[in-house]
Amino acid sequence: MRTHMCGELRREHIGSTVSVCGWVARRREHGEHLAFVDVRDHAGVVQCVVDNSVDVRSEYVVRITGIVRERPEGTVNPNLPTGEIELGECQVEILRTAAPPPFPIDARADEVDENIRLQYRYLDLRRERMQKNLRVRAAINSAVRASMEAQGFVEVETPMLVPSTPEGAREFLVPSRKEPGSFYALPQSPQLFKQLLMVAGVDRYYQIARCLRDEDLRADRQYEFMQLDAEMSFVNQDDVLGAISEAVLAAAEAATGERPPEIERMTWHDAMNRFGVDKPDLRFGIELTELTDAFAATEFKAFATAPSIKGICVPGVAADYGRNQLDKLTDRAKSLGAKGLVWLKAVAGDDLQIAFESPVAKFLSASEVEAVATRLGVVEGDLVLVVADEWETTCEVLGQLRNDLGRPPVHEGPYRYVWVVDFPMFVGRDAETGAPKPGHHPFTQPHPDDLDQLETDPMSVRSQAYDLVLNGWELGSGSIRIHQSDLQRRIFSVLGISEEEANRKFGFFLNPFDYGAPPHGGFAFGLDRLVAILAGEENIREVIAYPKTQSGADPMTNSPLPVAAAQLDQLGIRVLPPAAKG
Ligand code: AMO
Ligand code: AMP
Repeated sequence: MRTHMCGELRREHIGSTVSVCGWVARRREHGEHLAFVDVRDHAGVVQCVVDNSVDVRSEYVVRITGIVRERPEGTVNPNLPTGEIELGECQVEILRTAAPPPFPIDARADEVDENIRLQYRYLDLRRERMQKNLRVRAAINSAVRASMEAQGFVEVETPMLVPSTPEGAREFLVPSRKEPGSFYALPQSPQLFKQLLMVAGVDRYYQIARCLRDEDLRADRQYEFMQLDAEMSFVNQDDVLGAISEAVLAAAEAATGERPPEIERMTWHDAMNRFGVDKPDLRFGIELTELTDAFAATEFKAFATAPSIKGICVPGVAADYGRNQLDKLTDRAKSLGAKGLVWLKAVAGDDLQIAFESPVAKFLSASEVEAVATRLGVVEGDLVLVVADEWETTCEVLGQLRNDLGRPPVHEGPYRYVWVVDFPMFVGRDAETGAPKPGHHPFTQPHPDDLDQLETDPMSVRSQAYDLVLNGWELGSGSIRIHQSDLQRRIFSVLGISEEEANRKFGFFLNPFDYGAPPHGGFAFGLDRLVAILAGEENIREVIAYPKTQSGADPMTNSPLPVAAAQLDQLGIRVLPPAAKG
């Protein structure tokens, strides 16, 4: 039906007769006899000069045949790739009329309510921004596949109807018709199946896998999302990080045209110490600075006994923070678990020194002031925030304040990838039993150098679990798994899980390992998150063709919906009236 895409016509086509197909983006009257009709397809827009009597309106589907000609002087549009030419002497064929769209099919729709955009998603997707996003996504999928295959990974599909497993997230359940009262779950991830593929000798598995989790939706979370999921046999952590880095860098290059530099690594401990989070955003400074020793002899009560004191310096904002905002910052720190927040506004002191304006300034000695000023590199006009608490609380509170005060939107600026490695094996202890709780999950291999502390000092044991972080978003995580039954037994014992309980809960997963599990490890990263950031979007729903709204609905198909009583009968399900729920 067509010889060219609308968006690809250029000067070099001048003089040729062409046919294009697409949607009418705009119609403007031009004198008494002519009209300009802009026709749009996914490649762009071209201006067609048509007879005024032709009745085409917004979003009509048309086929137009005409001669490419130079636009008259003064009418060239430098903002449009086709802006130097137009189609003249046009014959217009209307392929389908269209009702007026509920919103303009252009950038103005960015401001339209999410529910309306998603109700008419097929119109929303017709827009340039969304067409670009779909294509960036396809390019990334394709690059990831090519990279994994070039590295010898084999694509294996795993089931969508799986048993309910204790993996962490809330599951979507699917009732069984053959066994009323029994349920499948939709997979949170292919974790179980991919590890058993290693037992099966697949060696290097990958899948672009759909995963489902019934979680509250946020900018980086949907019920359904896609993982690049991988597992490898006979490897160590470096091998896994190397293979995944390769796929991610290839994806980034496909999306942006530029291959990022090698991905740097940081230990979990450094990430916490310097950035106060396990997903550090390396695009900006305001790093956490150690002050504990500087206050060793302090007279300020709140600091005197604290195990960890750290500060951050927010450059140049002191004047912007009045009493009200400072109270809000303090409340924010408290809501994050701090006992309080010390703020210090840097002003000029005597002898070119820095002095601090603060309600607690009178408690600080000259040497304390000087330590804060030099270590944090404070200059006049800066705002310093200090927290004193347990190490983890101090880090976490300041890390969050750092993000609150300095973090740009996730897609802005440079891409800063970082591997966070050496996560702790255990975090916190069970309130009732006092047993350590697993940091990742109980099947993660401990760090080989820390094995002899497993029973004596479990909280100091590092694991071989790792995360990939981009601009402060967790892109993915993985670990080297335990494949040895004696080590697995030791871990369960540290966790206070009896052999009987372990068998009952995890037997179906672990028993197959007795038939010869190779050493193995793997990783999964969220494709939606990577695509969103590389496409310059702040919310993953912008890079998913048919996402759910914030409240988990699909306004286009009107789901979720009640189903007929007969269908429920077949499944042996009775729905309680709303009042009786919960
Ligand atoms: P994890 O649970 O950390 O690990 O998930 C890996 C990555 O999947 C993405 N992700 C999501 N993306 C969008 N919406 C969601 N609701 C959502 N939940 C997770 C994130 C996350 O980093 N089986 C393990 C991996 C392994 O150990 O091999 C797993 O699923 O980008
Ligand atoms: P207080 O002595 O509790 O009245 O606190 C005096 C000031 O120190 C207030 O501004 C508190 O917000 C702050 N503060 C108290 N405890 C801490 C703490 N652990 N870390 C940082 N600031 C604190």
